[in-house]
Amino acid sequence: MKEGFFKKLLDNASDLIWAVDMEGRFIYINDNIKEWGYDKEELIGQPLLSILNAQRIGKRETRRSIMGIHQTYEMEIVDKKGTAHKVVVKSSPLEEEGTIVGVMGIIRDITELERLERKLKDEERLASLGRLATGIAHEIRNPLSSVKMNLSILKKRLSPKGVDVEHFEIAQEEVFHLEKIVSELLDYAKPITLDLKICDLTQLIDVAIAAVAAPCAEKGVTIRTEYDGRGHMALLDKTKITQALINILLNSVQASLENSEIFVGAETVKFPSSDRARVVIRDQGYGIPEDNLKYIFDPFFTTRKDGTGLGLSIVRNIVDNHEGSITIESEQGKGATVSIELPAP
Ligand SMILES: Nc1ncnc2c1ncn2[C@@H]1O[C@H](COP(=O)(O)OP(=O)(O)O)[C@@H](O)[C@H]1O
Ligand SMILES: [Mg+2]
Repeated sequence: MKEGFFKKLLDNASDLIWAVDMEGRFIYINDNIKEWGYDKEELIGQPLLSILNAQRIGKRETRRSIMGIHQTYEMEIVDKKGTAHKVVVKSSPLEEEGTIVGVMGIIRDITELERLERKLKDEERLASLGRLATGIAHEIRNPLSSVKMNLSILKKRLSPKGVDVEHFEIAQEEVFHLEKIVSELLDYAKPITLDLKICDLTQLIDVAIAAVAAPCAEKGVTIRTEYDGRGHMALLDKTKITQALINILLNSVQASLENSEIFVGAETVKFPSSDRARVVIRDQGYGIPEDNLKYIFDPFFTTRKDGTGLGLSIVRNIVDNHEGSITIESEQGKGATVSIELPAP
């Protein structure tokens, strides 16, 4: 086979393949080095350790390879732009006619793989958590409505007075909260079947805004809308998307300061493959601390006293099922911005 064939084979490999001489200077490196932000030519003759975050590649390991030991180890490497990558390095002695003349090896970037593994583990954990919680919710639902009914019968019959009224009210409020958890939980765990129709997203936004009118009025919060163009058509399940929008708006109202404003915008964004309809909901509330941002879509994550932590989990489910995407950005004390993108037909 021609030499060109092997060169192509090496250059097209998805791993970084390298060889260094006894001084640790590159004598070969494949095209993959471009992914690390380097130019192949500028590196030949340069020490390997100078580019790949020298302090982390122990010289000791390199020496041992020279003495004829094969090595595999994980480490973190920083590319030319300063981005850290988790990698697996495999190295072995480079021999020529029976003498060791250097070290050769591969470096495989496993950052993405690790991220996917973590995500899969998270999803599995959440799925089994969901099954468990749904089982419990089903068990609780009937006894709970019996408690509720009996409480209200007793209240009527005993006509409580003074502090007893309060005791009844607390009990009834707690039952109400439990009911909310149970129904949101069952909602969250129910497999979603979408009834997709092409419809105008802005109409659904208007319905969702109307649905949160009462809590808005209570706090003096106004909602300002800005829809660029007339309609923003998308393939949607009306009920589900409206529910998702209500959940997001409610969070914003709850986080808002008195008499502040919530902005809701809609636009259609052009992408090379297809267009997407985007809704942006921005509040001026207390915001989300950075440490919490990664948990807000987890079921049961809540920072509110009467929260269930299921609102955004339900939103995430609905958006995912629409093959859409959702992002939340926030700076503590400065409000939060939620963006949803949905495929436009
Ligand atoms: N607009 C927002 N501003 C500040 N915090 C928010 C906002 N939206 C969501 N959060 C945070 O995310 C958490 C989870 O939200 P959610 O899933 O709707 O559950 P819940 O509203 O029952 O707490 C909230 O408790 C709150 O801490
Ligand atoms: Mg909520």
